[in-house]
Amino acid sequence: MLNVDDIRKDFPILSRKVNGKPLVYFDNAATSQTPQQVIDAIVDYYSNYNANIHRGVHTISQEATDLYEQSRQKIQAHFNAKHAHEIIFTSGTTHGINLIANGFSSILKKGDDIIVSALEHHSNIVPWQMLCERTGATLKVIPMNDAGELVMSEYETLLSEHTKLVFVNHISNALGTINPIEYIIEKAHQVGAAVLIDGAQACPHLKPDVQALDVDFYVASAHKMCGPTGIGMLYGKEAWLNKLPPYQGGGEMIAEVTFEKTTYADLPHKFEAGTPNIAGGIVFGTAIDYMNTIGLDAIATYEGELLEYATAKLLDIEGLKIYGTSKHKTSVLSFNLDGIHPYDVGSILDKLGIAVRTGHHCAQPIMDYYKIPGTIRASFAFYNTKEEIDALVEGVKKAKMMLS
Ligand code: ALA
Repeated sequence: MLNVDDIRKDFPILSRKVNGKPLVYFDNAATSQTPQQVIDAIVDYYSNYNANIHRGVHTISQEATDLYEQSRQKIQAHFNAKHAHEIIFTSGTTHGINLIANGFSSILKKGDDIIVSALEHHSNIVPWQMLCERTGATLKVIPMNDAGELVMSEYETLLSEHTKLVFVNHISNALGTINPIEYIIEKAHQVGAAVLIDGAQACPHLKPDVQALDVDFYVASAHKMCGPTGIGMLYGKEAWLNKLPPYQGGGEMIAEVTFEKTTYADLPHKFEAGTPNIAGGIVFGTAIDYMNTIGLDAIATYEGELLEYATAKLLDIEGLKIYGTSKHKTSVLSFNLDGIHPYDVGSILDKLGIAVRTGHHCAQPIMDYYKIPGTIRASFAFYNTKEEIDALVEGVKKAKMMLS
């Protein structure tokens, strides 16, 4: 059981006011809030350990290197990767996806297929379109149904010996649907395709086990899981990471450089050119420690209660429609009021101190499917409360009255 009152004390921002009202932060799918423990770890790094890593013989460079590599090991343990060098630090999920798309440029050719899903974020569509332009491969799309679920029978008909890569998000950012990735991975492997899973929206709510999933690549961002922006991780199976070419050239990713020929460093450094986000990498581990102290199972149970409570309360409002009604979903509620633009509702909620996201959520194909310009999206975290949901419901009622 979570003690939400105690947990809220860890998040200084939750006691600020917005437009004269207590902040109700329901934009967690865009970015989560930062606990004091992570803020303190950032200050501690810059106060005591600020030095470049993997380079210096001097003491603080070695201390910073140790902290950075210890964090990589924490991430390895959290995702249950077999080796620490299978964890590559990135600037975030988008960077990880582009790194893999770049790597597959030298593998794919005309006649090959890449499969993505109708539930993807733009960052999961555009890099593959660019990859198809470079290689002549074809992009195929697993369709969705009205509940916001992927149609698995259609997925099976898309798979063939031409399929080289399957790319699906673990959880949809716009609707909250949890996709059946175990099944998707198994079926892809049966035709010899590699699978990349975007875990950006999943990692705040659950703990993926990359070995149990047998996934080839998994990407995530620290800022969705109580860490800072600008840091993320790519997991890749060792054999795949050895096979793919580096993404960026530069310092730190080389073994030896001459003007005639350069050889590359071993994993993970081959994919980590340049001075990285050192503080971010170190405190990514602090954020993971924080979430594990609370416990991912307890988080999922509590957020499930919030979702159920909010769904029932919002559906009591006449003319309100929820998009994404799968039984398998996380604490994301996308909705609209009949005849009212989502942006107008979002603006009124903001005046009441309630932060939601409005618009297409970087997932225009999903909005096109429902023939809507966008939705109002309230996304809950383990530090939110039922009282805050009551405030949202009252705010939506008020917005409806003002805008009807
Ligand atoms: N992908 C993030 C969201 O869904 C930014 O809001």
